[in-house]
Amino acid sequence: MSKPTIVTLPGDGIGAVVLNESIRVLVAAGFKADYIHGDIGWEFWCKEGNPLPQRTIKLIEKYKIALFGAITSKPIDEAKAELSPDLQGIGFTYSSPIVSLRQLFNLDICVRPCKSYKGNPLNFVRRGKGNTIDEPMVDVVIFRQNTECLYSGVEWTNPPSKVYEAFMTHPKFAANFGSVPVEELSISTRIFTRKATIRILIAAFEHAKKFGYKSVTVCEKPNVIRETSGLMWKLAKEIQRNSFPDIKLLNTNIDAQMMWLTKNPEDYGVIVAGNMFGDIASDAFAGLIGGLGFACSAQFSSDGIAVFEPTHGSAPKYAGYAVSIVNPIAMIESACMMLDYLDEKKISSKIRKAIADVIIEGKVRTYDMMKMTGRPEVIMNGAASTTQMTDAIIAGLK
Ligand code: NAI
Ligand code: MG
Repeated sequence: MSKPTIVTLPGDGIGAVVLNESIRVLVAAGFKADYIHGDIGWEFWCKEGNPLPQRTIKLIEKYKIALFGAITSKPIDEAKAELSPDLQGIGFTYSSPIVSLRQLFNLDICVRPCKSYKGNPLNFVRRGKGNTIDEPMVDVVIFRQNTECLYSGVEWTNPPSKVYEAFMTHPKFAANFGSVPVEELSISTRIFTRKATIRILIAAFEHAKKFGYKSVTVCEKPNVIRETSGLMWKLAKEIQRNSFPDIKLLNTNIDAQMMWLTKNPEDYGVIVAGNMFGDIASDAFAGLIGGLGFACSAQFSSDGIAVFEPTHGSAPKYAGYAVSIVNPIAMIESACMMLDYLDEKKISSKIRKAIADVIIEGKVRTYDMMKMTGRPEVIMNGAASTTQMTDAIIAGLK
């Protein structure tokens, strides 16, 4: 295979820190690639009025594969205030570049594995029979539809009259909201399309089949959200019946799933959900395997574009530390997902084994793994820095 070119999108805050660490690991593990930097994030919003400049879009179009750190997003008013004075008042409005990336490249399939590492002091434990402590090993992969649902951006406060009139044709809207003054109405729409729903479901079933997971669980709420959750559940039944009869299909409501999470997390395999509930379920399961320092993800489009990123954000409060304290594992795991995608499974296995060894050995732990509050002093108190954690992983590559 020819040497790939990876577009690196450091973004803001700790995004840039952990991205560099992941590249150090990739290089040390023998992955041969070229890296090309892409501008993205807050700095480019403030300086140029666009947090996702056209030149970055061009790079991703060209090279089709990106490793992304994290960006900082702020509410509209704060964003406006930080925009360079010469760009104020001429029509620039802030929108999150990660959401824009997903929509622009139709990165509609988001995969978020949550797998416990043995010996991780952050693993979920529960009380078992006879007052014992159980530590169920979680191995769940969440398939989150990434472009639709409540994140599609189709929303209004004080909706225009055409929209208002259309809503008023719905008897439930007229009965329950018809007397509310229109300027007091805020509406965010939950849109599912058949095509995207089928794509995320098939991706989930195929993953289950390929990697031997016994079940696919649709985690929505079809008993109440009948049209959208109902569509996903109906299509899931058809797809399972017609194409994946050997894989068990389960149905949990998102609220109940949050409760089942701590009762029997080991019973779930692949979970599939719309954008909002997939976001919730993936953070919830991530909490069982160590939290944001361990939560990785991949996003795929239908036409061969793939973006790999940790699910955490830019953690601005830690960004300015002279010695970085954050855990690089989520980012390094995201880089491993990229290696799997590029069919470099030997290298990804080697890196995952090195991470597993460092965790089980327990000598090198970042502050989150020591249940400390994130402050600069954590290093003095025995926590490993970001760099030390990466160094330990690199030292364990065999
Ligand atoms: P965050 O994920 O940046 O941080 C939340 C907390 O999680 C941190 O304060 C820290 O305690 C912990 N944490 C995060 N990453 C960690 C790591 N690698 N190691 C150890 N601990 C870690 O979320 P927050 O504070 O809600 O948002 C900060 C900024 O990031 C906001 O501007 C937000 O919009 C943005 N964001 C960006 C995302 C992205 O780029 N994909 C995703 C989530 C938030
Ligand atoms: Mg989230």
